[in-house]
Amino acid sequence: MQYLFDDFEDDTHRRTGSEALCADAVLLRGFASAEDKAVLDAVKRVVADAPFRRMTTPGGFRMSVAMTNCGPLGWVTDRRGYRYAAVDSDSGKPWPAMPQVLQSLAGRAAEAAGFADFVPDACLINRYEPGARMSLHQDKDEQDFGQPIVSVSLGLPAVFLFGGLRREDKALRVQLLHGDVVVWGGTARLRYHGIAPLKNGSHPLTDDCRINLTFRKAA
Ligand code: SIN
Ligand code: FE2
Repeated sequence: MQYLFDDFEDDTHRRTGSEALCADAVLLRGFASAEDKAVLDAVKRVVADAPFRRMTTPGGFRMSVAMTNCGPLGWVTDRRGYRYAAVDSDSGKPWPAMPQVLQSLAGRAAEAAGFADFVPDACLINRYEPGARMSLHQDKDEQDFGQPIVSVSLGLPAVFLFGGLRREDKALRVQLLHGDVVVWGGTARLRYHGIAPLKNGSHPLTDDCRINLTFRKAA
């Protein structure tokens, strides 16, 4: 495997294969491409029951990314804090079940990255419209940091910022394209990461947005 730096001007020659971002973090180029339509159909079914909404941070800011969840647990934020919840407070009902196609994709991607037996209980679905961004953060609301994170990108490209274990560490800038999957765990599990403001564009399957699925074992 090769290490990846920020020269992503010409991505046409590396649409598949895996690239190490650092120890215990792998970019699986195009891993979800073959099942993109099935995955997006599954997302549509989830969204019909649990529509996208822009949540509020504990500090009172409205996030630019719209979110929903599927699976036994959903990641939520409001004035009370960040946490996992079994019930969608908008509907008062449990989050929609995690479609098999999503659960299976996450397990296979984790395995391909060297993390066997990953069975997520939470799938956060993020929708980015042009201008939406996610500032650098750690995923640390889960119980067991021994479990990896699996992150699937669909639709418009985005620049993934992949930092270190301290907020001030310099972040790699990695372009994520439709079908790409990033998996991080082990010594990389608590690395800071984020998404630079999404550029305008149009994608045949998602129109003017990017969809990200983040799978986690939260409980
Ligand atoms: C996240 O960290 O929750 C989302 C990352 C992404 O959109 O790729
Ligand atoms: Fe995250």
